[in-house]
Amino acid sequence: MENSNRPKIANVYRGTFIHSTQKTALQILEDELLGVDTDGKIAFTGRGTELVRLSQTFGFSPTEVIQLAKHEFFMPGLVDTHIHACQYSYAGTALDMPLLQWLNTYTFPVESHFKDLQFAHKVYSQVVKRTLRNGTTTACYFATIHTDASLLLGKIANDFGQRAFVGKVCMDRNDSVKHYKETNQESQEETCRWNIRILEKIQYPLVRPVVTPRFALSCTGALLGQLGAIAKNNNLHIQSHISENVEEVNLVKKMFPDSESYTDVYLKHNLLTDKTVMAHGCYLSDEELVLFRETGASLAHCPNSNISLCSGMLNVRNVLNHKVKLGLGTDVAGGYSASMLDAVRRALDTSKILTIQNPEYKTLSFEEVFRLATLGGSQALSLDDQTGNFEVGKDFDALRVNVAAPGGPIDLVQYSNVPLTIYFIFVSVASGLTGDDRNIAEVFVAGKKVVPFTEPTTE
Ligand code: GUN
Ligand code: FE
Repeated sequence: MENSNRPKIANVYRGTFIHSTQKTALQILEDELLGVDTDGKIAFTGRGTELVRLSQTFGFSPTEVIQLAKHEFFMPGLVDTHIHACQYSYAGTALDMPLLQWLNTYTFPVESHFKDLQFAHKVYSQVVKRTLRNGTTTACYFATIHTDASLLLGKIANDFGQRAFVGKVCMDRNDSVKHYKETNQESQEETCRWNIRILEKIQYPLVRPVVTPRFALSCTGALLGQLGAIAKNNNLHIQSHISENVEEVNLVKKMFPDSESYTDVYLKHNLLTDKTVMAHGCYLSDEELVLFRETGASLAHCPNSNISLCSGMLNVRNVLNHKVKLGLGTDVAGGYSASMLDAVRRALDTSKILTIQNPEYKTLSFEEVFRLATLGGSQALSLDDQTGNFEVGKDFDALRVNVAAPGGPIDLVQYSNVPLTIYFIFVSVASGLTGDDRNIAEVFVAGKKVVPFTEPTTE
C-alpha cells in the first residue's frame, strides 16, 4: 500500500552505482535502481530485477525510469573540506614561497581586495561554477574578513545549487599587511552579524555559516576564546588551519607558551569540537591525534597544497589508525587545482612517496581515497547523516559519470566487450586517476540537477 504521507517519487534511475560505506571502501552495484523523492532524498534502492515490485510500492511508472548507458555510472558528489574561494583569483600562480612568506606576499594583499563587492562577485561566481562542474557538490569555503562579500559567496553558492559551508575569516593579528585585519571587537561583532544573516536566510537551505579563525597565528587568544564561545552558544561548525608547516608550528609554540601543543591551543579555546574541521595537520603528534579523536574533530587533508608550498606530508595511514575523521581538500590557492579529482590523485601520490621513503608504510588504495573524497568528507563535516553515499534517506548528491565522454581521456567503446576492463575504467575514473570534468555529464545536489547549468547573462 502506498503511504500517502510519503513524498512522491520524482525520478528513478537504473544502472551502475558506485559508492563507499563504512565497511566497504568501494562498492559497485550493477543494474541497481535508485528512486529520488520530491524532497531530493533517496527514497529507495533495489535490484533492477525488482522493478515491478518497487514501482507498485513507491507508486511510479516503470516506463519513466531513467536508464543509464553501459558506459555511465553514478557516484556520490565530491566533498571539498577545505577551499579558499577568494584565492581562486590567483590559483595556479605564486607557489614559489613557503607558507608564511606566501601569505604575507600574495594572499593577504589579494584578500584585501574583497571589500570590493564587484570583484568578489566575479571571483566567487567563477569558483562556484568551476568546482560544481568538477563535481564538488559540497564545499567548505573560507571567504575573507569582509562580511558582505562573504554573504555574497553564500548567495552565489545557493543560486547555483551547491551545498556550502561558508566562513567569514576572523583575524585580529597581522603584523605584515596591517590593513588586512580586524580589531578584536569588529571580528566578534561581524562574526555574529554574519552568522545571524546567513542563518536567517532560510531561502539558502544548503548554505551554513562556519566560525573561521584563520589560524592561531592570526588571532589573539582573546579572539580565539570569543569565537569558541560563539560557536558553542550557536552550535556552529568551526574551521581553521593546524600544523601545516614547521615554521608555523614553532611560532605557535612561542606565541602560546601556556599550551602543550598546537592542538591544545584550539582545545583550550573551545575550538575543537565534533563540528570542527582543521586543515593540514602534517606535524600533529600521536597525542594530538588522540585529542582529535576524543573531541570528534576532523582533519582536511590538502595534498596539493602541502606539496606546492613545500609544507609537509600528512601520514594519512596514521590518522586513519587513530580513527580521526578525515576528508580531502583542494586548499586553493595553496593547492593549484580546484578539482577534487586532483586532490584524489595528489593524496595517492603523497601516500606513494611515503612508501618510497619507508617501504613499511602501507600505501593508500584508490578505493580508500575514493572514500575520503566522498563519504570521508561528509563525515569530516558531520554531514554523513545527510550525504556521502547512496543510503536510503540521504540527499541525492551525485555525479553522473560518462567514461566515454567525447574528448574525454578514455574511449570506452573499444573495451566494451571486456568486463574486467570496464570495471577498472569505472573505478579509475571514479577515483580520479584518469577522469576529468569532461567525464562528469551531470551533477545533482539534493536531487536537483545543478550541472549543466545556465550561465547567468551578467556576472
Ligand atoms: N594558514 C593560514 N592561512 C592560510 C591560507 O590561506 N592557506 C593555507 N594553505 N594555510 C593558511
Ligand atoms: Fe587553507
